[in-house]
This record gives sequence, C-alpha cells and structure tokens, in this order.
Amino acid sequence: MDSKANNPRIIVALDFSDAVQAEALAGRLDPARCRLKIGTELFTHAGPAMVRTLARRGFDVFLDLKFHDTPNTVGATCEVAASIGAWMINVHASGGSRMLKSARAAVDRASRPPLLVGVTVLTSLTLDDLVEIGIPHAPIAEQGRRLARLCKSCGLDGVVCSPQEAALLRAELGPDFLLVTPGIRPRGSAAGDQRRVTTPAEAVAAGSDYLVIGRPITQAPDPLRALAEIEAEIGPAGLAGSPAPARP
Ligand code: C5P
Repeated sequence: MDSKANNPRIIVALDFSDAVQAEALAGRLDPARCRLKIGTELFTHAGPAMVRTLARRGFDVFLDLKFHDTPNTVGATCEVAASIGAWMINVHASGGSRMLKSARAAVDRASRPPLLVGVTVLTSLTLDDLVEIGIPHAPIAEQGRRLARLCKSCGLDGVVCSPQEAALLRAELGPDFLLVTPGIRPRGSAAGDQRRVTTPAEAVAAGSDYLVIGRPITQAPDPLRALAEIEAEIGPAGLAGSPAPARP
C-alpha cells in the first residue's frame, strides 16, 4: 500500500547504535502504518545508506540530525540531506533567521524537496535547563512559541515541539503548519530523559500532525504490540488526514 495515501501519523524513532537492530525492527514494521526516524546515533553508525535502504523498502524517513551551524554550512548540508531521499529533515530554530532561510533555499533547490522543520525547545529540557544556558523565558512555552514563529516567518514547513505546546502553536500558527511532537509517553511508560511529555491521544487532541515515538515502541518487550496499542489509543486519527501534503 502507498504510505503517502495512507499518511500514517506515527514516526518510529530507530534509535539504535547498529544497522542490524534497526533493519530488524524496520523489517517487522509496515510503511502503511508508520514512518521511521533516523537520528544522530544510527546515522553516525550507518550513514546515508540506511536512509536509502529504508526508503527503498517504502518508508518515509525523517532524517533527524538537527543541523545547527553557520548559514552557509547548514544550507550546504541541507542540500546533501535533501539528495539522499529523506522525507523530512530538520534544523535547530535557535540557529537564527539567516540560517533558517539558508536551509529553506537549499531545500527548495532539491529535485525532490523533503519537508523542512525547525526544532524549537527540546522536549528533554526544563525551565531550569533554559535558565542555565541564559534563556530565562517563563513559561517555557514562550520560548517554543518565539522559535516556532521564527520558523514560520522563514518559510519552514513546521516545527518539532513538545506536545504540551502543540495546542498553543496550532491556534497561533494555523492549520497548515506542521507540528511534529516527540515526548510521547503512553500511560505507564517510563519518561526516561524526556520531561515535557503527553500521551499519544493527548498529543493528537492538541493538534500534533506527527507523533515521534522511540523507546515506548523500540524498547518494549513486543514492539509491534506496543505500536498496535498506541494505534488503538488514537483510533482513526492514527492515519493523519490533516497534515499539509509534502511540498511539490
Ligand atoms: O525514545 P523517545 O520516545 O524519547 O525518542 C524521542 C526521539 O525524538 C529521540 O530520537 C529524540 O532524539 C527525538 N527528539 C526529541 N526532542 C526533540 C527532537 C527530537 O526527543 N525536540
């Protein structure tokens, strides 16, 4: 089945340090039911070949490398990332408008442009963490909002944000701005290093387009069952009807 026609809302984070484990789990998953995310851990081990392998198997791949560097370097890197077949890529919004616009321009030059989203405030950060690095905005949602607005003004397709901030951002930034939310924890699952979390159903109700879910699925005794339980929790909303389609 064509995964794009189906438009699954769940993105499984393949946070593994080796390709064998990642491919083993991907081999048990169905591109019609989920997308996959490759982050820095797996990419450092397996590189672009893993993106291509999973894309060949029919998966939409979110390449979550969170670029944050000078405008020129980020633009050039986005151009390369766009060329290896990722469905979505991301940059840190705190890199500022010149960096974000450089990323936008680079992605627009690609023959098949991936979605480009900006990371606002990591879902693992608390207000104390922000104060520690000199960003004393209270409440923390204010900093997320500021960065999300910046992303929209620079033409990005959406943001990665906490599901706790999704409702606020949805109301402010409109229906077409993608909200991608990690920090998802089904009731009873361990928070781990995450701090600003919600359940899958709460994230969908708050307006999240895509739910990034790692350990609650990948570390579950039965990952397929864990995925099925999350799908059951969110019901028909598991297949996103509303997200903006991929850019032409
Ligand atoms: O295991 P868990 O569900 O916490 O995985 C969440 C995934 O989302 C991780 O791969 C993490 O790097 C990523 N992520 C995040 N917060 C962001 C952006 C990405 O947790 N703001």
